[in-house]
Amino acid sequence: MTDARAIPTDPRSTARLAEAGYDYRVVDMADADQARPVTQAVARGFLGEEPKPEEIAEIAAAMEARRCIGVFPHESVAGQLPVGTVDAWVTPLTIAGGEIPMWAISGVTVAATHRRRGIARNMLEGELRSAAAAGVAIAGLTASEATIYGRYGFGHAVPVAHISVDTRRAGWLAPHADGAVEYIDRERLAADLGRVHEHSRASRSGQVPGWAAKWRKIAGLAAGDSKGAAVRGVRYVDSDGELRGAMAYRLQEDPDEFTASLHIHHLAAQTDEAERSLWSFALQHDLVTSVDAQLRPVDDALPWLVRDQRAVTMRVHDHGWLRILDVPAALSARTYRAPLDVVLQVDDPLGFAHGAWQLVVDADGSASVTPTDAEADIRLSVADLSSLYAGGVRATQLFAAGRILGEAGSLASVDDALRTERAPLLGIWY
Ligand SMILES: CC(C)(COP(=O)(O)OP(=O)(O)OC[C@H]1O[C@@H](n2cnc3c(N)ncnc32)[C@H](O)[C@@H]1OP(=O)(O)O)[C@@H](O)C(=O)NCCC(=O)NCCS
Repeated sequence: MTDARAIPTDPRSTARLAEAGYDYRVVDMADADQARPVTQAVARGFLGEEPKPEEIAEIAAAMEARRCIGVFPHESVAGQLPVGTVDAWVTPLTIAGGEIPMWAISGVTVAATHRRRGIARNMLEGELRSAAAAGVAIAGLTASEATIYGRYGFGHAVPVAHISVDTRRAGWLAPHADGAVEYIDRERLAADLGRVHEHSRASRSGQVPGWAAKWRKIAGLAAGDSKGAAVRGVRYVDSDGELRGAMAYRLQEDPDEFTASLHIHHLAAQTDEAERSLWSFALQHDLVTSVDAQLRPVDDALPWLVRDQRAVTMRVHDHGWLRILDVPAALSARTYRAPLDVVLQVDDPLGFAHGAWQLVVDADGSASVTPTDAEADIRLSVADLSSLYAGGVRATQLFAAGRILGEAGSLASVDDALRTERAPLLGIWY
C-alpha cells in the first residue's frame, strides 16, 4: 500500500494558496510542537472543546500514520494554529471480488475566520491530484454535510441506515443460536471490535479497515472521554468458543421511569448467527424500551428478526463517498455479476476520469476498460459513476432522478452487472 506521507504536497494548490497568502505544507505529527496546533485546529473545526494535553498526544500518535497538511497564513509564527487542515492515508477499500487501494481523506477543516475563501477547494483538489500522482485510482471520505463534496467529483456510494426499535412492540422471532453472549471489559471490547471488523470487512463492498485508536474511542477509552465509563461491551462466541461478534453500547436511563434506551455504538459480526445474537441481546434486554444503532447496512436482517416489523424504523442516509480518479484501474479492479459491453461517457471537470470508456465484462465477471471513440450508451458525471461503483445505488435510479442519460437496456445491463451480493456498508466514520 502506498505511504501517503511520502507524496509531496500538490504543486498547483501550493502555488494557488501561496498567491493567496498561505503556506500549504505537510506537518510532522511525530513532532509534538507541530502536532499540537494541528490537533487543536481540527478539534475547533469540528466544534469540539479545547483538547487536553493527553488527548492531543493520543490523537497525534494515531495521526502519525497519515499525511497531515496544514494551511498557515504567511505571517503566522511557530505554534499558531493552521487555518486549514486535511489528512490522508492509503487504505484498502472492499469492492466486489476483493479490494482496491483508496486515498482516504479526513480532518477537513477551515477556521471559521477564513471560510469561503477557497481554502477547502485548494486542499481537496490538492488531495485528488496527490492521490492521482501516487497512482491511487479512487479517493474516499465520510462527510459532515452531504452538500460539500459533490463539486469535487465525489459521489454518495455507500448508504447506511440508522435503525431505531420500539422493543416493547417488536417481540422476537429469530432462532436461538448455540453460542454465548458474554460481557467484556472495555479494553477487551476495543480489541474484539477491531478483530471482528478486520475479519468481516471483506464481506461487504465499501468497508475500510479500522485502527486501534478508532476502536478505543468507540469503547469509551479515548483520553478525556468523560462519558467513557458509560460504554459497555459484549461479545458473541460461537459453540466452538470462537469470537464472532462484538458490540459496544450505552444505556441511558429515563429519569421518570425505571427504564432505559440502549444506544449501540458499534455492532460488528462475522456471522449472521453472531449478528442475530447481539441484536437479540439488545432487543431483549430487561428494562430497555428502545434500541438504536447507527451505520447499519440497508439490508440489515433486523426487521426480519422481530415479530412486529412496524416496531423498527430505518432511516437511510448518505455515508461513504467515493471519487474515481482512474476509470480503467477502478472499474477493472472489481468483479461483476453479469456480462456487459457498454460505453460510458464520463464528465469530470477536474479531468481525471473524463472521457469515453468501453467497459467489457466477460462471462467470468472480470472487466477490461479502454478509451474509445464509439458513441456513448450512458452519459454521466464522475460523481454518479463513483456512486454506482460500490453497488449502493442503481443506474436506473439515477436515470429516474434525471442525473444520468442512457437507454433503458443499457441501464438495466449496468445494474445487473454492478449489483453486489449484499448491500454495501461502511461501518465506521473516518
Ligand atoms: C466545509 C469547510 C471545510 C469548507 O471550507 P471553505 O474553505 O469555507 O470552503 P471553500 O471556500 O473552499 O468553498 C469551496 C466550495 O464549497 C462550498 N462550500 C463550502 N462549505 C460548504 C458547506 N458547508 N456546505 C456546502 N457547500 C459548501 C462553497 O460555497 C464553495 O462552492 P463553489 O466553489 O462551488 O462556489 C468549512 O466550512 C469547515 O471547516 N466546516 C466545519 C468542519 C467540517 O464540516 N468539515 C468537513 C468535514 S467532512
